[in-house]
Amino acid sequence: MNITPNIVILTGAGISAESGLETFRGSDGTWNKYKVEDVATPEGFARSPDLVNNFYNKRRHDAANARPNKAHLALAKLEKNFPHSFLLVTQNVDDLHERAGSKNVLHMHGTLNHVLCLTCHKRAEWKGDVTAESICPHCHAKASLRPDIVWFGEIPFYMEKIEKALSQADIFAAIGTSGLVYPAAGFVGLARQAGAECFEINLATNPATYELFDEVISGPATKTAPDFVDNLIAKYSQVTD
Ligand code: OAD
Repeated sequence: MNITPNIVILTGAGISAESGLETFRGSDGTWNKYKVEDVATPEGFARSPDLVNNFYNKRRHDAANARPNKAHLALAKLEKNFPHSFLLVTQNVDDLHERAGSKNVLHMHGTLNHVLCLTCHKRAEWKGDVTAESICPHCHAKASLRPDIVWFGEIPFYMEKIEKALSQADIFAAIGTSGLVYPAAGFVGLARQAGAECFEINLATNPATYELFDEVISGPATKTAPDFVDNLIAKYSQVTD
């Protein structure tokens, strides 16, 4: 057995639910209140930039006021124990993983704390609201900033790096994600091909993904993720060769 396993963790909205941020597909989820095509597509933004900016302004505000929970903290602890063989891939656009102490994090769907300028195509850090009056810090164009979020029909970020890590994974865990959105939903398949042991950690058991994983751990992430992390650390610290 490898003394230091290659670990790839995928997180979704469920890991931030207990920090008070809403998921997308729960009964009270975002996609029950908004139409995807209105707020999460380039066409929706072209039709109504104010609607889209306001949608993400609220989410940026909510994320800034949320605090990392025990599940985020557990993953930061896992990385500390395996600093050279750990990758955290998140579909989340909040920065709760970073604020919990995670370092090697890839935001495959972008982040709320960045904007992309449609005039000069440069990115900038952004903390407050984006409005029609906002000015690009690089080229000073007005009304040209969009959230740096990957929308439906766009290609997620970092795919090459992520696929490389999955092809070398010994442990893969999907935490708090419905497994309905590709390409993230396909990561467990890639990890399995690489021979990784695959874990699903979710509030509910998911009939759609159940058979894809070696182990399904059900319960709130703030309880299940710390236990999973402690078990993994204990297991590998006992391995001597
Ligand atoms: P979803 O809302 O689709 O799924 C959230 C998952 O978290 C569900 O499977 C819940 O059962 C689970 N969950 C909820 N609370 C939990 C808790 N306390 N502990 C553990 N699990 C919990 O969110 P995602 O899978 O992240 O994309 O959605 C994937 C993508 O779809 C998002 O990144 C977003 C969305 O459209 C874009 O906006 C591009």
